[in-house]
Amino acid sequence: MNKLTWYGHATLGLETDGYKLLVDPFFTDNPAASTTAEAVDADFILISHGHGDHVGDTVAIVERTGAGVISNFEIANWFGAQGVEKIHPQHLGGGFQHPFGYLKLTLALHGSALPDGSYGGNPAGFLLTTNDGKKIYMAQDTGLFGDMQLIGDEGIDLAVIPIGDNFTMGPDDALRAVKFLRPKAVIPIHYNTWDLIAQNPVSWADKVQIETQAKVVVLAAGESFEF
Ligand code: NI
Ligand code: MN
Repeated sequence: MNKLTWYGHATLGLETDGYKLLVDPFFTDNPAASTTAEAVDADFILISHGHGDHVGDTVAIVERTGAGVISNFEIANWFGAQGVEKIHPQHLGGGFQHPFGYLKLTLALHGSALPDGSYGGNPAGFLLTTNDGKKIYMAQDTGLFGDMQLIGDEGIDLAVIPIGDNFTMGPDDALRAVKFLRPKAVIPIHYNTWDLIAQNPVSWADKVQIETQAKVVVLAAGESFEF
C-alpha cells in the first residue's frame, strides 16, 4: 500500500514500503500549507527545481530528521554546500534504484534558479516505480509537453499534475496532459495557494471525468490518497 498526502501547493508526502518521502517541502510562508516544517517526518526529500516554493524548508527538515536529499546535480550540490550530508544527484532521464523504489527524473518545462540566484540546472518531474510495482508521476512545475505521451507509455497508476496556470499548466492544458499520460488516477496540485493561481478543481475534475478514463482525486490540503 502506498499513501500520498497533499500538504498544499506542490508539497507532497509519500509513504511507500515503510519509507517516508517529502517532495518539494514548502511549509513556511505557504498560505496553503496544512501543517508545519516542524511536524513532518522524512527519510528522503525530493526537490524538483530551484524555486523557493519548492526548495522551501528542506534544510531545516534535514537538520531535524537527517533525511537524504535527491535532486538534479546542481541543486543536490547546492544543498551539499549548505551542510546537507546525504545528497544524491541525478539528472533528467536518469533513474536509480533507491531503497524506496526506482526514481527517474523526467523533463519539465519551467525554470530552476535557486533562491540565492545560484544556477539550479534544469527543472524536473519525478517518475517513481515503487517496490510493489506502482508507477507514480509527479510532474511538479511544468507546462504541457508532448513527451508526456512517452511517460504515459510506462503505464501510470497515479499522476500528480499542476492546474494553477500562470506559472504552470492551467486547467485546459492539464486536461490535455491527462490524455497524454493516461493515468489510472490523477491529483491536481499547484493551485489556490495565491489568487494568481486560483482555480476550481471540481469543475476541472468534471471535465477530466467526461473526456478521459482517469479517476480524478481532488484532495483538500492535508488529505491523503491510498493506492
Ligand atoms: Ni517553480
Ligand atoms: Mn512552483
